[in-house]
Amino acid sequence: MKFDKYYSKKARNMESSKIREISKIISERTDIISLAGGMPSPNSFPIEVVSELSDDLLEENGAEALQYGTTTGVKKLRNKIAERLNRNFDTSVSGGNVLVTSGAQQALYLIGKVFIQRDDQILVEAPTYASMLQILKEIDADVRDINLKEDGYSVEELQSYLESGGNPGLAYFVPTFQNPSGITTSREKREKLIEFATEHDFLIVEDDPYHQLRYSENSVPPIFSLDDQSRTIYVGTISKLLAPGLRVGWIVAREEFIDKLQLAKQPVDLCTNVFSQHLTYRYLEKGIVDRQIGKIIDLYRAKRDQMLESLEEFLPNSVEWTTPEGGMFIWLTLPDIIDTDEMFQGALDKGVAYVPGSIFYGTKPRKNTLRLNFTFVEKEQIEEGVKKLGELIRENLP
Ligand SMILES: Cc1ncc(COP(=O)(O)O)c(C=O)c1O
Repeated sequence: MKFDKYYSKKARNMESSKIREISKIISERTDIISLAGGMPSPNSFPIEVVSELSDDLLEENGAEALQYGTTTGVKKLRNKIAERLNRNFDTSVSGGNVLVTSGAQQALYLIGKVFIQRDDQILVEAPTYASMLQILKEIDADVRDINLKEDGYSVEELQSYLESGGNPGLAYFVPTFQNPSGITTSREKREKLIEFATEHDFLIVEDDPYHQLRYSENSVPPIFSLDDQSRTIYVGTISKLLAPGLRVGWIVAREEFIDKLQLAKQPVDLCTNVFSQHLTYRYLEKGIVDRQIGKIIDLYRAKRDQMLESLEEFLPNSVEWTTPEGGMFIWLTLPDIIDTDEMFQGALDKGVAYVPGSIFYGTKPRKNTLRLNFTFVEKEQIEEGVKKLGELIRENLP
């Protein structure tokens, strides 16, 4: 029996995320070292702390934590998120500027729903976060890639696009320790982006899940904190600072935007998991988060250093890679003749996995690129995985 006819037109066009497909293959094979996924290390989860916080929460505030909540989110969590942002980045927002979402992913989905329609020109970095591209594809937006350089988007490209009549509704950027490239946009380029947005009247969405996973001293303020006109919509999450399984993220924006976004959220899930919200609040309020971030940074910095060292040791000179100052990813550019989609099966056969770079482009994929994750696997496996990758690349060179 054929069931296709039962699907909506939208459902018929839905495509699975390549990363999720890769993750599925890998999860069925225990012999593969996966440098593919984007997951935190299981060792970064403070399980005992969560257990204690949960016990206390149930004892002291159980009825509220197990009840439905408001769509905008638990009030004291919203206030806390605003307070932390103000403290860390010198902003002046309040709880009314915050919408709690089911992860940053829902935040992006809601932003898509409220601000983007079919054929709207949307600027993205090339490469960019693949699950945002999935959202844009569903909407049928007109995605415009702006190539990334070592210090962020190409100003020249953006300028020439704007000067030649480009009319973007919104720019979606991951300016700090970007997924997938690990690149951080310089302060100058952030300021320039705000200037462009002001002059050409478009909004900026700043997706910032990795900001606090910083392994070097140089810190760059979020675009949101530099934008005195509040045309930037800021997206944050607890996923990388506590645990992605809790599904707590947030949007910080002008109150009128928050009002619209919460209307878009109502029919989706009524409210974000209330128990998780209370847990997150306690985690932030008691200051446990800052101690925990310190531990996560130590764990990940060592892994990043191991990966950089292994790349140096095992990869041919013709391969280039980024040196991220934070986050979870390193981006590789291979010689032009290598197609990392085609090479992928060979990698699995060798027992290593990466994410082919092509999925991170809105248009014109660069087929000779790939993303490596250094947070999930153990240090020893990083060395072994990169060694296998080095062998594979050499085998694919003439
Ligand atoms: C750039 C970016 N945005 C959003 C997300 C989604 O985060 P969350 O787990 O909060 O939904 C991720 C997760 O990897 C990400 O890398």
